[in-house]
Amino acid sequence: MANVAVIGSQWGDEGKGKIVDWLSSRADVVVRFQGGHNAGHTLVIDGIEYKLHLLPSGIVRKGKLSVIGNGVVVDPWALLREIETVRAKGVEITPKNLVLAGNATLILPVHAVLDEAMETLRGQKSIGTTKRGIGPAYEDKVARRAVRVCDLEEPEYLKEQISRMMEHHNALLRGLGLAEMEAEKIYRALLEIREEILAYRGRSWQVLDEARKAGKRILFEGAQGTMLDVDHGTYPFVTSSNTVAAQAASGSGVGPGTINYVLGITKAYTTRVGEGPFPTELTDETGEHLGARGHEFGTTTGRKRRCGWFDAALVRQSVKMSGIRGIALTKLDVLDGLKEIKICTGYELDGQMIDYLPSSTTRQARVKPVYQTLEGWSENTRGARSWAQLPAAAVKYVRYIEELIEAPVAMLSTSPERDDTILMRDPFL
Ligand code: IMP
Repeated sequence: MANVAVIGSQWGDEGKGKIVDWLSSRADVVVRFQGGHNAGHTLVIDGIEYKLHLLPSGIVRKGKLSVIGNGVVVDPWALLREIETVRAKGVEITPKNLVLAGNATLILPVHAVLDEAMETLRGQKSIGTTKRGIGPAYEDKVARRAVRVCDLEEPEYLKEQISRMMEHHNALLRGLGLAEMEAEKIYRALLEIREEILAYRGRSWQVLDEARKAGKRILFEGAQGTMLDVDHGTYPFVTSSNTVAAQAASGSGVGPGTINYVLGITKAYTTRVGEGPFPTELTDETGEHLGARGHEFGTTTGRKRRCGWFDAALVRQSVKMSGIRGIALTKLDVLDGLKEIKICTGYELDGQMIDYLPSSTTRQARVKPVYQTLEGWSENTRGARSWAQLPAAAVKYVRYIEELIEAPVAMLSTSPERDDTILMRDPFL
């Protein structure tokens, strides 16, 4: 039985929602392993719309187990609010179908304050974070001063840990000329929700080991995209977690061998929210056209996404870094009606040709895309359910992408509707 990891192969927002929804309908267990409520996607099931940020996609389907792994940073208030919102739509959420790892890090109110303060401090060089406190919470985790879900079980220790953490943060807030925050207040607020959160507390590693042994299908649901990975992405314009497929293992407590197939969700063009290098960005009419046709606004922050041509060099890099076995190509229909379509095959850097995105931030900003121009198509591909329904030029475009990124298209999505998908390979089989 195969277990599947789904990750974004660009800068996030590749259209994971629809694909993950389809896969989660076939999985027994759905696991989040990194990020937090900076992520966001919309699921539509039987005409009901659900906006999920922190909860795994399996939550809206009966009989599935959802796991929030240790690699996730959890704002407990955001989690409870999301549970309430989803429950109000008739979904049952209990400790039977939701497990929250005891060793997951908590995002506390101070983290959002620091996120905002740091962004202001960066001024012109801001990252464009979602201001959800994600970065500061991960910083605390690595600095070994974080408060974790399991600490809620021991109020004495919780109090000490918050005091230690706030000593550090208050020194910083003072230095920035900002109001200090009271450790006691945070402690009391946590005590109020402690029981509710602890009801879901579990051991993600153990739950997943049992599921694996019982031959259950596990879906590891990634958030953001490979190019936002803190190690492999366009640092420092990245999120603060590892978004590559390997994180599915360490962020949930399973061995790497548990993941049998990595599916990379890939948009037929490129988008990015927030700041940072974007070699194929289009700031002209075509960019505007892609944004308008593709409804390119963030689910979490509502921000307008930057748009550009498909960058095959970048996706090829993601394919290698995450061991992507096949891609789900999304939003092909957004390209309908364009006379010609460009694909970036590599870059020019200081007069030299390279076929990879360099690690250096300044070099990333200097690379110039090298394009291959393909003929566009005037026909409508929206809703196509077989290759035969696609115009020859669209097929050529897809085939060329496969060749350049060195990975096959496992699924081709031609509209937000679940059934408008051409399936070449079932990742679970
Ligand atoms: P943070 O994750 O809020 O710290 O933001 C860091 C960077 O990651 C910013 O450029 C955000 O726009 C980007 N980012 C975070 N979450 C998402 C997401 O779910 N989709 C796309 N971009 C994201």
